[in-house]
Amino acid sequence: MKLIITENYEQSAELAAQMMLDVVTEKADALLGLATGTTPVPVYRYMVEAVQQKKTDFGRVRTINLDEYIGLDGEDSNSYLYFMRKHLLDACQIPPERVMIPNGMADTQAELDRMNAFADANPIDVQLLSVGANGHIGFNEPSDVFYDRYHAVKLTQKTRESNSRLFSSIEEVPTEAITMGTGGIMRAKKIVFLATGEEKLDAMKKILEDGEVTPDCQGTILKFHQDCTLFLDKGMADQIRPAPYVEVRRV
Ligand code: F6R
Repeated sequence: MKLIITENYEQSAELAAQMMLDVVTEKADALLGLATGTTPVPVYRYMVEAVQQKKTDFGRVRTINLDEYIGLDGEDSNSYLYFMRKHLLDACQIPPERVMIPNGMADTQAELDRMNAFADANPIDVQLLSVGANGHIGFNEPSDVFYDRYHAVKLTQKTRESNSRLFSSIEEVPTEAITMGTGGIMRAKKIVFLATGEEKLDAMKKILEDGEVTPDCQGTILKFHQDCTLFLDKGMADQIRPAPYVEVRRV
């Protein structure tokens, strides 16, 4: 794991975006693994700017998302397809045929089969990632096991409460989702990982400090990834003592 300590979150987002864009510069038809939520929003803003200013060509880029709520239509403003169209896909003119995201309204098993067949045949060139306060990556919630491929999950009360900020009430937050497994995330050739906010501090300590790799905090498995770069602002990083093998750089 490489840790890049930045002045602030805006700088983390800009550097993370550049890392994503560099992958596309090297490989025009790169498969980008994408995440939703608050954390990646400024990363997508920088990526869109680069594409609109024609610094990077997204004419052949393909995307695959980590997850989607079960029961939400892509037109629903809380669905992850809607989020991706709003923050990246439409502005970069990436058409639906180059976008893989679970359909929350389709038969769940058929959707898992479709996502898994694609994921098995198409390695992710770079995966953008953040983490939940309970250490989840994708929607791989604390568990006794690490799941491998796309699967359906029940969301924990903590995750539903946290995500309810984007809905009008907690009752509206779906109870289930489809998510890429932790194994699928680990098969990405490269991972660009960001976290910000005090509520993530505990999880980030478990991920960065010397300690167990445990499905109880799914993000700890990132310790085993060969090419994972984590961006943290100094406010958070200075409260963490990374394990000796973490390569730390301040910018
Ligand atoms: C989203 C996802 C989740 C989020 C995590 C952090 O696709 O897979 O694991 O990355 O819940 O969300 P934010 O960024 O909203 O704090």
